Amino acid sequence: ATHKLLLLAGDGIGPEVMEEVKRVIAWLEKAGLASFAIEEGLVGGAAYDAHGVSISEADMALAKASDAVIFGAVGGPKWADVGYDVRPEAGLLRLRKDLELFANLRPALCYPALAEASSLKPEVVEGLDILIVRELTGGVYFGEPKTITDLGNGQKRAIDTQVYDTFEIERIAAVAFELARTRRNKVTSAEKHNVMKSGVLWKEVVTQLHARAFQDVELEHQLADSLAMQLVRWPKQYDVIVTDNLFGDILSDLASMLTGSIGMLPSASLGAADAAGKRASMYEPVHGSAPDIAGQGIANPIAMIGSLAMALRYSLGKGEVADRIETAIAAVLDAGKRTADIAPKGTPAISTAEMGAAIVAA
Ligand code: NAI
Ligand code: MG
Repeated sequence: ATHKLLLLAGDGIGPEVMEEVKRVIAWLEKAGLASFAIEEGLVGGAAYDAHGVSISEADMALAKASDAVIFGAVGGPKWADVGYDVRPEAGLLRLRKDLELFANLRPALCYPALAEASSLKPEVVEGLDILIVRELTGGVYFGEPKTITDLGNGQKRAIDTQVYDTFEIERIAAVAFELARTRRNKVTSAEKHNVMKSGVLWKEVVTQLHARAFQDVELEHQLADSLAMQLVRWPKQYDVIVTDNLFGDILSDLASMLTGSIGMLPSASLGAADAAGKRASMYEPVHGSAPDIAGQGIANPIAMIGSLAMALRYSLGKGEVADRIETAIAAVLDAGKRTADIAPKGTPAISTAEMGAAIVAA
């Protein structure tokens, strides 16, 4: 099959790291490993400069028609004062909302060559491969009421509301169970049922779904605060972790830093499956547009290339090609090649393009 990809490079280092994705795509085609129909669009500041919006309707239509969107990064000081609705981040939020990307996947994968660079002991992170599945479209970030009220006595009251319906918990848990089946077959569900009603419902719905459809997967429940502690103490006990929007935001940032630089971290966001089982999906590095190093050709392209690998694995049915890309990244790191962000002080660094070329060569 020919895979329809929409590349949205965005701003800052986005286009620089996207060049390396194109290099990998060109090689995959040449090697006969996959065939692609590539469209390119504008998002963020780049779209604002061209069209006065953060993403055009034409590009939104391409995103909806694609098998996967590959997204770089948006934002930068140049667009600090454009209107709220057309600010660069609005393009990203529009994509997430219109494609209903409710499942955010953040792997924490420790490449052996970088175990020494972790803030934890090498033996704690060496070989680490966990996946955090965060609910992305519900919970306290979106629940109503969401207000600040003046109480009139010099006091104000802020209210955020955590809301989860059964179907929202069910669909994110189903994604986690399905992914676990392709990995080490274990799901850890994190909430705080001891103090939150949403935690009580979360635990109940996950337990029922497991009994109904996923009994072959090992399920454990853990309080989110205790999970945070365990993630630092011995992260290798986990395979897939599923949790809500707020806890997932914090736990995925924590987990990602177990293993190194922000320039190394890919992510995926998945939507609901249609009748044919096809999901809307978007793949992007965790990092932003890095205006401080943009234009210098020194950004680390591994997070971006790793995001393409995730697209191959989760949207395009090419898990073995994804494995090859990740094996190539590991080999390049084993050979000592480092971009500036992951090079120990005083050691030489290679450029964005050199890293991309080295991965292709490997
Ligand atoms: P950032 O992730 O862009 O940069 C943080 C630090 O990490 C910087 O020192 C940067 O040089 C470094 N860094 C990031 N990616 C790197 C890479 N691939 N290789 C080497 N070094 C890398 O976050 P920051 O500085 O907070 O935000 C900069 C801009 O990006 C802002 O406009 C922000 O709104 C936007 N942003 C966009 C995101 C997105 O498009 N999803 C996510 C986060 C921030
Ligand atoms: Mg965050």
